[in-house]
Amino acid sequence: MNSTTRRKFLAALAGAGAAGLSGLSGWRNPAFAAADSAGRFTNRLRLPGASGLYAPVAAKDVKQITVSELDFEVLPRLSSPFWAYVTDIGGRRLLNPTLLARPGDQIKLRMVNRLKQPTVIHWHGLTNDERNDGIGMYQVEPGKSFDYAFTVRDRAANYWYHPHPHDIAGEQAYKGLAGLLIVKDDDEEKLARALDLVLGATDIPLVIQDRSFNFEGKLEYKLSREQMFMGFLGEEILVNLTARPYFDAARRIYRFRILNGSNARSYRLAFAQGNRLLDFHLIGSDGGLLEQPQKVRETFIGAAQRLDVLLDLREASGSEPVFLKSLDFDPMHNESVDEKTGKPPAVAAQGGADPHAAHAAPGAIADGTEMPLLQINVKSSPEYKREIPPQLSRLPSLAAAAGEPRRLTLGHDGKGKWNINGWRFNMHETPVTVQRGTRETWLLQNNRASMPHPIHIHGFQFRVIERRDSPAQVKALATRQNGLLPQDFGLLDTVLVWPGESVRIALDFSHPFSGDQTYMFHCHNLEHEDTGMMIGYKVKA
Ligand code: C2O
Ligand code: CU
Ligand code: CU
Repeated sequence: MNSTTRRKFLAALAGAGAAGLSGLSGWRNPAFAAADSAGRFTNRLRLPGASGLYAPVAAKDVKQITVSELDFEVLPRLSSPFWAYVTDIGGRRLLNPTLLARPGDQIKLRMVNRLKQPTVIHWHGLTNDERNDGIGMYQVEPGKSFDYAFTVRDRAANYWYHPHPHDIAGEQAYKGLAGLLIVKDDDEEKLARALDLVLGATDIPLVIQDRSFNFEGKLEYKLSREQMFMGFLGEEILVNLTARPYFDAARRIYRFRILNGSNARSYRLAFAQGNRLLDFHLIGSDGGLLEQPQKVRETFIGAAQRLDVLLDLREASGSEPVFLKSLDFDPMHNESVDEKTGKPPAVAAQGGADPHAAHAAPGAIADGTEMPLLQINVKSSPEYKREIPPQLSRLPSLAAAAGEPRRLTLGHDGKGKWNINGWRFNMHETPVTVQRGTRETWLLQNNRASMPHPIHIHGFQFRVIERRDSPAQVKALATRQNGLLPQDFGLLDTVLVWPGESVRIALDFSHPFSGDQTYMFHCHNLEHEDTGMMIGYKVKA
């Protein structure tokens, strides 16, 4: 390592002229946010648009997306190789544009692959036929292109798009490929009017991702065998690709559209001012608005999930900053406990090591660590007299199917490979077949000797109808209705299933596509997906 680049790197992390070298050690200290918050979050949060990054654009105006390798200053003034979805429009170059659409819009665009490896764009959460879903079967070789053409058939919601090639989705997403696709409808517009919300100003997408850097400040994706098994954990948490970001706000209501775009990390999100947690309202999940806002104080978010929240900064007192943070939690890396007793194996029990330290690569922030993610400075107090409407939207009803559920058990083979019902991904097999137009109940059961798995189903949004045997830290947040969490009141395409937990979900396999369609369901811990925790399933016409 070279000391000049190291110094530059650390200075960039701390922001211009801030804490510098000595600042870094305090960062790892969980007490950090409460004890010392001034001067550390010195990088202005990147908002969609300003620099071209995440710039909003009508999806139907986008004719081409070029999957490109370029240079980008992820850390201030330090350029890093970065992979992006690039679109040139109206004389501007946009990176990972925020695609805007309304239900019924036609999206027609050509993807050009300028990477040195195959890729494919998956439209996460949208109802598409298999060709337009964007999966490994349709991946595109370097230099080649692929034409997508589909209609937006889904509810207004925060969807997203990201790579889905065989075995290397994790690397590609990590290197930068991910963008939002925001679908709006009349309910959305009503809410925006009621609360005077403007996308990019008071209605703000927040993409949370953890990353590691080498000493030149370049993004680094290196996995040990253990990380291949557990999933990648980085040493910095970025929000909208901003390390240690701050955001200047007014004393009013903000909407945050939060995407956990991390490869493998879950967060326990809360807004804190000093030691006080602020209430906030959960208004939407993967599949769009809930019917009613849910007042909460904290919520888990697994990889690939979206949470839509309203934060009323009129509830913040004084001028002390508010932090979006991840609270301390048990990451439940329980893959070696005894399946019957739930007790740790003898060896681990003797060691008495800090469970949070388990599996963290050197320098990585251990899973479950308490940490601030975004500093919000309350700068002004404008005249603002709006209140959150009690009714946001209507959800399509999705009655549970009669009969036995289809059981899917999440576990591993003891040799470092995760599986579902003992199956691992094989491109040529679809171990599950469902009939188009039928309803099914699926029972996702995670073994005790396991870790949390964010399970994602392509092709159909679903409803959670029951959670059983949730670990205490999850049960503590549950509502009185069947152990459901507040976000379970919405439509989901990804559900976080904890060790020992059983989650019952209702699916309706109705869609307008004729002919058999093949989709995937998989763990959205991208290293788990890449190493085979993914199953193809067929919807028979
Ligand atoms: Cu967001 Cu199959 O993935
Ligand atoms: Cu998906
Ligand atoms: Cu997993």
